[in-house]
Amino acid sequence: MSVPTGDDRQAAKIGIVTVSDRASRGEYEDRGGPAIRAYFEDVLTSPWDAVARVIPDDQQGIEAALRELCDVERCCLVITTGGTGPAPRDVTPEATEAVAEKRMPGFGELMRQVSLRAVPTAILSRQTAVIRGGALIVNLPGQPKAIRECLDAVFPAIPYCIDLIEGPYLTADEEKVAVFRPQKK
Ligand code: MTE
Repeated sequence: MSVPTGDDRQAAKIGIVTVSDRASRGEYEDRGGPAIRAYFEDVLTSPWDAVARVIPDDQQGIEAALRELCDVERCCLVITTGGTGPAPRDVTPEATEAVAEKRMPGFGELMRQVSLRAVPTAILSRQTAVIRGGALIVNLPGQPKAIRECLDAVFPAIPYCIDLIEGPYLTADEEKVAVFRPQKK
C-alpha cells in the first residue's frame, strides 16, 4: 500500500449524524454533531470534509441516512451520536446493524469500558460499530461530553481499520492521539 502525502491526498469524507427527535425539530441546539466535528478538527492532520445530518429517532430514516452517507457520499467513516439507550425511541444501534455488512463489537466494548470510569450509566448505552462497504460506522451516546471520552478510546484504531477496508490514509496529531498501525513485515 502506498502512503499518499501532501497535496496528492483526496479529502476523506466523514459523516456526522446527530440522531435526536428534539434537535431535528429545532427544539434544542445540536451540540453533539459540532462536538464530533471539533474533535476531528483537533486531531486529524490529513485532509477531510464533514457531511453532517440531524435526523429524528426513526429507524428507517436512520438507515436511509447511513446508506446515503456510505453508498452515495462515499464517506470512509460515519459517526452517529444519540439514540443508543434503552428508551422506546432509541433505535440507532438497530439501524446501524440493519445496514451492516460486518459487525465490529470491539468498538462498543471498549467505549463502554472507558465510559464506565466516567459515569455508571455507561452500561445503558448499546453503542456499536459496523462496516458497510468502504465505511466504518461508529455509534456514540448523545451526551456531548461522551464524545471525547469515547473517541479518545477508539480513535487510535480507526485509521488502520480504514486502511483495511481500502479507504483513505488518515493521519493524526501524534501529541493528541497515538494512532496504531502495525509494523509492516
Ligand atoms: N458514556 C459516556 N462516556 N458519557 C456519558 O455521559 N451517558 C450514558 C451512556 N453512555 C454517557 C455514556 C447514558 S446516561 C445513557 S442513557 C446512554 O449512554 C445512552 O445515551 P443515548 O441514548 O443518548 O445514546
